Amino acid sequence: MRILVVGGAGYIGSHTSVVLAEAGHEVIILDNFCNSSPTVSQRVTGLLSKPLKLIQADIRQFDSLAKIFSENRIDAVFHFAGLKSVSESGVAPLNYYDNNFCGTVSLLRAMQEFGVRNIVFSSSATVYGNPVYLPYDEKHPTSPSNVYGRTKLHIEILMRDWAASNSGSAVSVLRYFNPVGSHHSGSLGDDPRGSSGNLMPYLINVLQGKYPKLIVFGNDYETRDGTGERDYIHVMDLAWGHLAALDFLVEKTGFHVHNLGTGSGTTVLELIRIFEDANSVTIPFEIGPRREGDLPSYYAAVEKSQIELGWSARLDLHQACQDAFRFLQRKQL
Ligand code: NAD
Ligand code: WQD
Repeated sequence: MRILVVGGAGYIGSHTSVVLAEAGHEVIILDNFCNSSPTVSQRVTGLLSKPLKLIQADIRQFDSLAKIFSENRIDAVFHFAGLKSVSESGVAPLNYYDNNFCGTVSLLRAMQEFGVRNIVFSSSATVYGNPVYLPYDEKHPTSPSNVYGRTKLHIEILMRDWAASNSGSAVSVLRYFNPVGSHHSGSLGDDPRGSSGNLMPYLINVLQGKYPKLIVFGNDYETRDGTGERDYIHVMDLAWGHLAALDFLVEKTGFHVHNLGTGSGTTVLELIRIFEDANSVTIPFEIGPRREGDLPSYYAAVEKSQIELGWSARLDLHQACQDAFRFLQRKQL
C-alpha cells in the first residue's frame, strides 16, 4: 500500500514509518517540522534500503494536502500530526484546537475529496481521565482532564461521525499509553524541539547535564512506593501495533478503538532503578511535590488488541531504557 504518514518526522511516526517500509509498504512522510527536523529523513533512509519521500506541509493547509493527494494515489493515512504538551495546551488552547482538531478536519476533507478511506489515528490513554476502574479497557468512560486530551477526544468523535457518513471508510483509533525507548540502532528516538515534560526525555536531559536532577512528582500516592504508576510501552511495540491496525483495517470497515499498552504499571522509582540497572548509570533525583493534574496510577487492558489486532507488546522496560540511552549516546557523538 502507499501510505501517507502525517507527522511522520516525529518520535512515534518515524519509528512507524520504518516498520511500514520494512513490511513492504511505500511510505510518504508529511510534516511541518514544528516539533521535529527534516534530518529524520536521512536517519530513516539509513535504516532502509531505499529513501523515503518527505514532504514539508501543514495538514491545516487544505490546498497542500489536495496537491499531495492528487499527485500520489494514497491507500491509507497514518495521522501522528499533533501538538502534545499537556501543560502548554492549558495555556494555549486555541493553538491546540486549531492544530489538532482543525488540522484533522482538513485532513479528512482532503481524504474524502480524493476517495481515501483508511486512516489510523494517534489517540491517547489520556482520553479516559480519572479511572472509574483499572485497567482501563476501551469501554471505560472518557473524561479527559486537560485541553490536550479533550482535543484527542473531539477528534475521535469527529472520526466516528466521518466513518458513519462514509460507507466503506475504515478508522482505527489507537490509544497509546506511555511511549518510551528508541529504535534499536540508536539512530531514531524521542528528539523534540523543546521540552515535553515527559519523564523519560527529562531523565535523559538530566544525564545530558541539562538539568541537575530529576524531580519525582510526589511520593504520597496510593501505589507500591508512593510514586506515580504508568504503563510504559516500547516505541517499537507501538510501531508494530500500527502495522497490525493496518492489516485489521484492510479486513474491516467502520470505526474501531484499541489500547496500545503492555497491561502492567511501573512506578517512577521503579523506572529510575530499571534505567540505572540497564545502563550502569546513576540518576540524581529528589522527591518534589505532586504535579497538578497527575493521576496516581493507570494501565491498559490489552485483551481487545490481542484478540482483534493479534498484537501484544513484546519488549520490556529494561530494553526500552537501553535503547533510549543508546540514542542519547549516538546523538552526542
Ligand atoms: P512528535 O511531536 O514527536 O511528532 C508529531 C509530529 O507532527 C512532529 O514531527 C510535528 O512536527 C508534526 N506536526 C504537528 N503539527 C503538524 C501539522 N499541523 N502539520 C504537519 N505536521 C505537524 O510527537 P509523538 O510523540 O511522535 O506523537 C505522535 C502523536 O501521538 C501525536 O498526535 C501525539 O499527540 C500522540 N501521542 C503521543 C504520546 C507520547 O507520549 N509521545 C502519547 C499518546 C499519544
Ligand atoms: C509519567 C510519570 C509523573 C516527569 C503524559 C500525557 C499523556 C501522554 C503521555 C500524550 C507521572 C512522573 C514525570 C518528571 C516525574 N502523552 N514524572 N518527574 O503524565 O503519564 O502522560 O504523556 O498523549 O497524554 O498526559 O507522562 O511522562 O509526564 O509522567 O516524576 O519530571 O512520571 O508524575 O507519574 P503522563 P509523563
